[in-house]
Amino acid sequence: MSVLSLDGVTVSRGAGPVIRDVSLEVVSGTITALVGPNGAGKTSLLEAISGVIDASSGTISLDGEPLGKLSRVRRAHRGIVHIEQGRAVFPSLTVVENVRLASGNAARANEAIDMFPELEKRRDSPTGLLSGGEQQMVVLARAFAAQPTFLLIDEMSLGLAPVVFTRLLPMVQRFAEDGVGVLLVEQFTNLALSVARQALVFSNGRVTFQGEASVLQQSPEVLHTAYLGGSPAH
Ligand SMILES: Nc1ncnc2c1ncn2[C@@H]1O[C@H](COP(=O)(O)OP(=O)(O)OP(=O)(O)O)[C@@H](O)[C@H]1O
Ligand SMILES: [Mg+2]
Repeated sequence: MSVLSLDGVTVSRGAGPVIRDVSLEVVSGTITALVGPNGAGKTSLLEAISGVIDASSGTISLDGEPLGKLSRVRRAHRGIVHIEQGRAVFPSLTVVENVRLASGNAARANEAIDMFPELEKRRDSPTGLLSGGEQQMVVLARAFAAQPTFLLIDEMSLGLAPVVFTRLLPMVQRFAEDGVGVLLVEQFTNLALSVARQALVFSNGRVTFQGEASVLQQSPEVLHTAYLGGSPAH
């Protein structure tokens, strides 16, 4: 079992701290949903974990080993893969070319594409011609080809209808079944909670709920209170 842990992490940007003294754990083979209002600091947290920005204090560790000032590229080599907000595909490259960029292993790239019948049919099409949902499948296939240990997913549903997003969720579950620890930031709270085992609510840079996803699913009032910044977890 692998563990990604944050201990007392604070992140500052511009005017001041946007993440304040956050401690949490993501365990391999599970999906942890991270939800919360706009501006709560969800993206900043993922960026601090993957090394896009630096934490100003606290420790981020992989299996007990602090990542320190390790660069983004080195963190990726350690298995931390970050799917950033927005669909970052190379539109003029074909589907198969986009996925192969993530892995020198052609068999793994093919396996990733074959998971989506929609992509299999269009593997030699320029990715820019695909629909938004299909492009997000390419992003997920690329992450699969990269064989992550931990996968950070930021608002994969942005610009997609819930029904299209629902089609992507089995792929996220497949990562967890394969032993990947997934941290899923999502605006479609209920859909995210339906596939997650653990849940975190962020409000104003703090963790305001930490526990079983089913608790939030069954108690909308707990979710509501946490969104408003109540019930600090520690
Ligand atoms: N590049 C930046 N420079 C300065 N401040 C920033 C930057 N990016 C975000 N912030 C600020 O950091 C805080 C947290 O923003 P962040 O984007 O992490 O929140 P979020 O929970 O991901 O929000 P959303 O749900 O809208 O995506 C906000 O107050 C935001 O204005
Ligand atoms: Mg965000």
